[in-house]
Amino acid sequence: MTRNQILKDTQAAYVTAEGAAYCGDSLDLLRQLPDDSVQLVMTSPPFALQRQKEYGNKEQHEYIDWLAEFATLVHQKLRRDGSFVLDLGGSYEKGVPVRSLYNFRIPIRFCDEIGFFLAEDFYWFNPSKLPSPIEWVNKRKIRAKDSVNTVWWFSKTENPKADVTRVLAPYSNRMKKLLDDPDKYYQPKMRPSGHDIGKGFSKDNGGSIPSNLLQIPNSESNGQYLSGCKAVSVKQHPARFPAKLPEFFIRFLSNPGDLVVDLFAGSNTTGQVAETEGRQWLAFENNIEYVAASAFRFLTKNDKPEEMQKIYKRICDRKTVDLRKYQLEKLPKIAAVTNSESYSQTSLLDYLAP
Ligand SMILES: C[S@@+](CC[C@H](N)C(=O)[O-])C[C@H]1O[C@@H](n2cnc3c(N)ncnc32)[C@H](O)[C@@H]1O
Repeated sequence: MTRNQILKDTQAAYVTAEGAAYCGDSLDLLRQLPDDSVQLVMTSPPFALQRQKEYGNKEQHEYIDWLAEFATLVHQKLRRDGSFVLDLGGSYEKGVPVRSLYNFRIPIRFCDEIGFFLAEDFYWFNPSKLPSPIEWVNKRKIRAKDSVNTVWWFSKTENPKADVTRVLAPYSNRMKKLLDDPDKYYQPKMRPSGHDIGKGFSKDNGGSIPSNLLQIPNSESNGQYLSGCKAVSVKQHPARFPAKLPEFFIRFLSNPGDLVVDLFAGSNTTGQVAETEGRQWLAFENNIEYVAASAFRFLTKNDKPEEMQKIYKRICDRKTVDLRKYQLEKLPKIAAVTNSESYSQTSLLDYLAP
């Protein structure tokens, strides 16, 4: 079976070596997947914000019912040791400086009614987030700036696949000093917390155990994606998450070869990371323009704007773009040329099936 036929009833928008992107309502697309087939669903749904974003948001009271429909299907499609990671921003109640409880009601509903387990609650701290809401934070100065998203890690069973040694955090300077010269810095003792700080603490494990507070600025440049959008004069997706967020969970909760799905894929940050990490991936997104622009993530700066334009149009015209030959044959050639700026021998389009 070829990758553009993975879903029985839907044609892929584009296909890469490791994955495929589909345009459609994820409820329909998810239904087409075999049960117990997905290792990790990593996603960030449209948030239940009061302010309407350009891709539409549900009112808060409808929001949880709406999201629960997707979650029920996710539960069915996950492998027994699979995980469902959901990034959710917080919000305020309309017109009052009071927080909405919707993102806390979600884990309760998903665990009580759908059968998920909350494997761990994570918090994504984005230090580059702008102060909001303007009324309470900037104007009246009665609330602090909101810079943390909740990231719920749900699992289908109590023991999902997970290996924290694959996402170790860099050691602190203090720890590095201790590792360099354990005898100088290290005094074995029992801490008041009950932790026995023995010799094992001076062993270099390649990094420290990360905490469930992930500090990731959302300020990365998204190189090829943004330059593709610019070349083709299309708007970039307004709510992308930083690649480091899916990267953390993909490494932590799946192995190379496992299937990773993003059901609200937007600009397909998840698919791009999954591809780099050697995981198979599927991206579902119901806005064709977002899907078409997300293909730029798999091209290079050597591709010409007019070629990118053609790829974009082909996807918008609902013709599958197969990038596998391009990845297999053109990318290694580009990599082999020291001054890749000068690489212009073959057109990107020559590598695509007609
Ligand atoms: C917060 S954005 C995801 C952004 C993404 N994480 C990224 O890095 O680009 C949510 C996306 O879900 C899409 N969406 C909303 N409802 C959908 C549905 N029923 N099926 C598929 N996609 C949907 C929206 O168009 C939007 O692009």
